[in-house]
Amino acid sequence: MSSAAAISMAGQVVAEGFPQETSLSGLEYELIGREDIYTYGALESYSEAPFLTELVGTGALPPLADRLPAEPIIFKTGVMVDGVGEYGGVFRHVIGGRPEGWNWAAGQHQGWGGINMAIQECLVRQGPRWQIRGEDQSGPLPNLARSWTWNADATEVTMNLIEGAKWSDGDMFDTEDVRFWWEDNVQDANVTSRMAAGSFGGADTTMEVIDDFTFKFTFSSPQSETVLESLAYIQGCPGPSHVLKESHPTYNSDSTYEAYTGALPADELSPVVLGAWVPVVHRPDELVVLRRNPFYFKVDESGQQLPYFNEMHFRLSTWGDRTTQTVAGTGDFSNMEDPANFVEALKQSQSDDSPVRAAFGPRVLGWRMDLNYDVNTAEDEYGQALRAIFRETDFRLGLSHALDRDAIGQAVARGPFAHPYTGGFQTGSPYFDAANTAYQEFDQDIANALFDGLGLIDTDGNGVRNLPGGEDIVLDVLSNANRGEDRKQLDAMASQLAEVGIRVQPRAIDETNFDTVEASGAFDAKFGRINFILPTFETCRSLPAGDACPIFNQSGDRMPFEQGIADAYEAFVSSDNPADKAEAAQTMQTLLTENAYSIGTVQFPAALLINKRIRNAHPGTPVFMYEWAEDAVIRERLWTAADQQEAELLPGTVAEY
Ligand code: GLA
Repeated sequence: MSSAAAISMAGQVVAEGFPQETSLSGLEYELIGREDIYTYGALESYSEAPFLTELVGTGALPPLADRLPAEPIIFKTGVMVDGVGEYGGVFRHVIGGRPEGWNWAAGQHQGWGGINMAIQECLVRQGPRWQIRGEDQSGPLPNLARSWTWNADATEVTMNLIEGAKWSDGDMFDTEDVRFWWEDNVQDANVTSRMAAGSFGGADTTMEVIDDFTFKFTFSSPQSETVLESLAYIQGCPGPSHVLKESHPTYNSDSTYEAYTGALPADELSPVVLGAWVPVVHRPDELVVLRRNPFYFKVDESGQQLPYFNEMHFRLSTWGDRTTQTVAGTGDFSNMEDPANFVEALKQSQSDDSPVRAAFGPRVLGWRMDLNYDVNTAEDEYGQALRAIFRETDFRLGLSHALDRDAIGQAVARGPFAHPYTGGFQTGSPYFDAANTAYQEFDQDIANALFDGLGLIDTDGNGVRNLPGGEDIVLDVLSNANRGEDRKQLDAMASQLAEVGIRVQPRAIDETNFDTVEASGAFDAKFGRINFILPTFETCRSLPAGDACPIFNQSGDRMPFEQGIADAYEAFVSSDNPADKAEAAQTMQTLLTENAYSIGTVQFPAALLINKRIRNAHPGTPVFMYEWAEDAVIRERLWTAADQQEAELLPGTVAEY
C-alpha cells in the first residue's frame, strides 16, 4: 500500500480515502409491501398438527379455539415461495453456544444461533424487513404489539397488544408481562436486561398501563417509528411475569437479584415461553430438543396453526461445525461467518448433488477492538492511567495506523473476502457511506510518531512503550474463546502492535459467560465481531445511548466527540425522514471513524446455507440485515415435505406444565 498519508505540521493525520470495495453479494430478490407477509385477523376455522388434536381428545390440551387469540397473526400464502406447508419433522440447527439459562428477561442468553429467537417473542419484529420495499420502510413490523398510534407531537405512543395470546403453559399474555419487563427488568438497576436503562427514547421515558392489552410510552422529546425498532429482539421481549415474579426481590423479599437472574437454570425444563418451540430436553454439550408450542399465536391463511415443524434441534457443537454439518447435510442451517471455512464450503456447495444451497450477501460482519473509556471503574491506578490514555484520540489513531488490515484479512481467509474496517457502519449497511468513512492506512511511522507525541516512550528499552508512570503499556484484551476466527485476528493484531511497542495480552472467556463479563465492564479492551448495520440493533454494544452505554464506557463521562455521536443517535431515532436519518448516520460514521472510537480490523461477507429439503426459505434472505437470518427466514413458516422429513425424537409430545 502506498504511503500517501502523512502528519501535517499541525500534527493532524491526513488520511487517504476509504478503499473501494468489491461486493461479492449474489443476492437477488423482489421487494414487497409491509402487509404482504402477515396481518392479524379471524379466519372461519382453524386446524392444528394432528397429534395435538389427539392430545385435546385425551384432555391434555384445551381445544385449539381456546388456545388461539381471537385474531391471530396470519401469514399470507402469496409471499411463501413454496406455499402453505405440511406438518411434521425436525429442523436441525447446530450451534457453538450453550444455554446460559432461560431467564432472558434478566439478560441471560440461551446459546445463540437461533435458539433464543425460537423461544422469545418480542413487541415488534425486524428480521423480515429485508424484503420490504423502500417506501414501505417505516419502522419495525408488528408482533406482540399489533398496532400503535402517536400523539400529535410524537411524545407519546400508545401500543395495542394482540388480545388473547397465551404463554406455553396457557397463561394469558397481557400488559402485566410488559409492565414487569419494563419496570422490574429494564428500569431496575439491579437487573442487567438487554435493553439498557435510559437507552430507549432518552433517560426520562416512562411506561403506563392503560388496560389489559393497551399501554403507553411517554418520551421527554418527540420520537419516531425508528425508536420502536429497539422493541424488537433482543431488547423488547417480555418474560413470563407470572413465573418470574416468584423470584424477583420486588415481589419476594426472601429472594435476591442473583437468585432472580438464575431462577430458570439451563438444566431445568421446560421454561414458559411465547415462541414457536419450547425446550423440553437439554443434554449438556450435546443437544437441546424443542417441541412445538401448542399455544403459538400464529396461523397460515388456510387456518393451520404454525409452526409447521413439530421439533427443532440445537446440537451443541462449535460454530465451525455448524457450517461443516450443514454442508454435509446433517444440519439444516448455517450463517457461514467463519471465513476460514469459506473456500472449502463454497466449493462443496456448488455441486448439483450438494444437500445445501449457498448465497453470499454483502459485508455485514466486522471485527473490532473496543477500548474501555470508563476511568472510574478501572480496578487500580494502572488501569486508570491506561484508560486515560485510551481517551486520547492520537493514541487510538496510532493503534489504527499500526494495523496492516490486508495482512489480517489474509491471515483469516485467502481470497477476495476481507475488506479493511475502521469501525462505524459496515459496507453492507444501508447507512455506510465511503465519503464519510475515515481510513487510517497502515503506516507504522505515523503510529510511532503519534505515540511519541503523547510522551509514550519505551523508557526502559524492553521494546514496550511506557505509561508516564513508567509501567509497560499492556492491553488486556477480552475475547470469546469459542470463536476461532476472532483469535486468529487478535493474534495477528497483537504481533503488529508489538512492532510499534504496544503489548496485547489476550484473555479468552468462554462464550457462555462472555456477556456477563462484558456487561460488568471489567475489561480494559475487548475484541470480537460486532454487526454494526443498524444503529438500533443491540445499540449499547456500539453507541453512547443512555448513560450506561456503550458497554465500553459505562460511566456516562463522555469525550466531546462521543457526545456528538450520542446526539446524532438521538437525531437518528427521533426522525422517520430518510434524509434526516441519512444525515445523522453520516455524522455518526464520520465521528466514529475519524476518532477511531473502535479499532476496526476487517469486514467479511457471510453466506447463508440452507438444506434443499427446507421449503419456504425465501431466496435472497441475508445472513444479517435488520436481524440475523434465523429471524429473517421466518422459521415458523418453513416446512419439509412428509417424505423428506427427519424422524422426531419425541413424536406425539409437547412440554408439560
Ligand atoms: C450467533 C451466531 C450468528 C447468529 C446469531 C443469532 O451470534 O454466530 O451467526 O446465528 O448467533 O443470534
